[in-house]
Amino acid sequence: MCGIVGYNGSSNAAEILLEGLSKLEYRGYDSAGLAVRSGTNDVVIVKAKGRLRVLAEKTNDGKALKGTLGIGHTRWATHGEPSENNAHPHVSDDRNVVGVHNGIIENYQELKEKLLRHDYTFYSNTDTEVAIKLIDYYMKKYKEGPIDSIARAMTRIKGSYALAVIFKDYPEEFYVARKDSPMVIGIAEGASFIASDVPAILKHTRNVYYIGNQQIARIGKGTVEFFDIDREPVELQMEEVTWDAEAAEKGGFEHFMIKEIHEQPKAVKDTLNAFIKDGRIDLSEAGLSDEYIASINNVTIVACGSAYHVGLAGQYVIEKLVRIPVRVDLASEFRYRDPILNADDLVIVISQSGETADSLAALRLAKERGVSTLGIVNVVGSSIAREADHVFYTLAGPEIAVATTKAYSAQLAVMYGLAVQFAKVRGQIDEETYAQLIAEMETLPKKMERVLEDKERIQWFAAKYSNAKDMFFIGRGIDYAISMEGSLKMKEISYVHSEAYAAGELKHGTISLVEDGTLVVGVCTQNSLYEKTRSNMAEVKTRGAYLMGLTSYGNYAIEDTADFTVYIPRTSEYFATTLAIIPLQLLGYYLSVARGLNVDKPRNLAKSVTVE
Ligand code: AGP
Repeated sequence: MCGIVGYNGSSNAAEILLEGLSKLEYRGYDSAGLAVRSGTNDVVIVKAKGRLRVLAEKTNDGKALKGTLGIGHTRWATHGEPSENNAHPHVSDDRNVVGVHNGIIENYQELKEKLLRHDYTFYSNTDTEVAIKLIDYYMKKYKEGPIDSIARAMTRIKGSYALAVIFKDYPEEFYVARKDSPMVIGIAEGASFIASDVPAILKHTRNVYYIGNQQIARIGKGTVEFFDIDREPVELQMEEVTWDAEAAEKGGFEHFMIKEIHEQPKAVKDTLNAFIKDGRIDLSEAGLSDEYIASINNVTIVACGSAYHVGLAGQYVIEKLVRIPVRVDLASEFRYRDPILNADDLVIVISQSGETADSLAALRLAKERGVSTLGIVNVVGSSIAREADHVFYTLAGPEIAVATTKAYSAQLAVMYGLAVQFAKVRGQIDEETYAQLIAEMETLPKKMERVLEDKERIQWFAAKYSNAKDMFFIGRGIDYAISMEGSLKMKEISYVHSEAYAAGELKHGTISLVEDGTLVVGVCTQNSLYEKTRSNMAEVKTRGAYLMGLTSYGNYAIEDTADFTVYIPRTSEYFATTLAIIPLQLLGYYLSVARGLNVDKPRNLAKSVTVE
């Protein structure tokens, strides 16, 4: 899970590559490297362990490297520890082939042994070095050009890759190949750009190609030709990126995460507006007709991390409103479970990036089984968006902070739309309830703004508890799903050990961890469960816990139990997650800031997990 960039034009490549990599650092940031060349000169390679700024300092922001063609890489280690040696680009023994790679080569050991038998030597522990040397091996063995050699290597490589490769004897161009890892190719007047994600090239061009799976491309100066794995030319359609580059910048906020937290009302509003038309829900853009909705008998939601938590909240809403069984599975489990799926099931895959390896594999498995699939995806043109039978785009815009916020909220909005429409089509709710639920959904963006207005109180609370070591989030029903997301936010950016527990389950073991001063957040947005959770909160308070309550305005009796309470505006219980999650996101954010941590790029994590 790394970021790659490439440039071929007439400007100084290294400066452009570094700038592009800075937009991809969310994909990995343990080391980085560049390879540039000018004309027939030898390729110059510079690598650095650590953040991209180390590489920038080493190259005087790229000015010290001369060349108009180059490739670059920012790494998140999979094979081999973070080090300069393992950083990309990697080179063949005689520097004939130089390349960068995003993805994972599953059979690299077997390929390495083959190459060792042919007298290749290895200086790194990476799978990438093996891929580069395999291309070199075929080039020498068959005395063929780059397209043929890359295609031969592709037929041997198992796993995922987005590769960018420079060949010593082809100074005017470089080559790319892709399978199951993202890559976009941008074309401008006299210059070409490649990147793992659109923001890295948006400054230069909006005209892009999304190279297909198992395709190869020759990248000239403002030109590109595509080939399939059989080396036959293929025609791809150029597409125009319509969203704004500004949207991917910080816009005056200290961190991307807090900016994205504030963008949530808009993300939800835009997403709702895409399917609520004249007071009715219209799912036709995702190809979900009423006849089709009526024919579904089971829903399986598959996702990872926060997207999985959206699935859990969605499960409660769909089951309650639609009365059909909903199963929610972690994609990494689903794909190896040999899941039981029937022809009348709908498999929903939720993913911000649309590139998460486990989610993509789950989608493919469902398709192989002949089950209809729906992708709820934020990144346009991503793998899940392209491969799912039906696609629902969340309109959250580019999300940069590793910890998701606005994409999560936009995904929830889609789940509400599906639940309400399914319920109506299947006769579970009448016209009046349908209209009320839609009207309530439309009030959410304004109510979210109200929650955000209260952020100073959370900031104060976070500063007070910035030394917390353990934290528990408890709730029942939807409040349990909210607790899971609140807990993940806390762990991933504040590094505070935290756990989410179904409030009624706590006393079956975990309560023994509660001692004097342990921070416990009780989430109580569901009227029918409010008193139950409140008594679970009282149980931990008796054992010394310091209690934060999170509930709706009006439930003031919670102050008899909680030491500190945050209120959210009243809404339908089905939609409470959208409002209740904001204080928990803010809590994680402000705690991370108070602890002086790197909020947007927490340690050991990457935004888009394109490896298993
Ligand atoms: C959440 O803050 C995390 N960054 C992570 O759990 C994320 O939701 C997960 O990796 C899934 O990513 P996706 O939505 O891009 O598939």
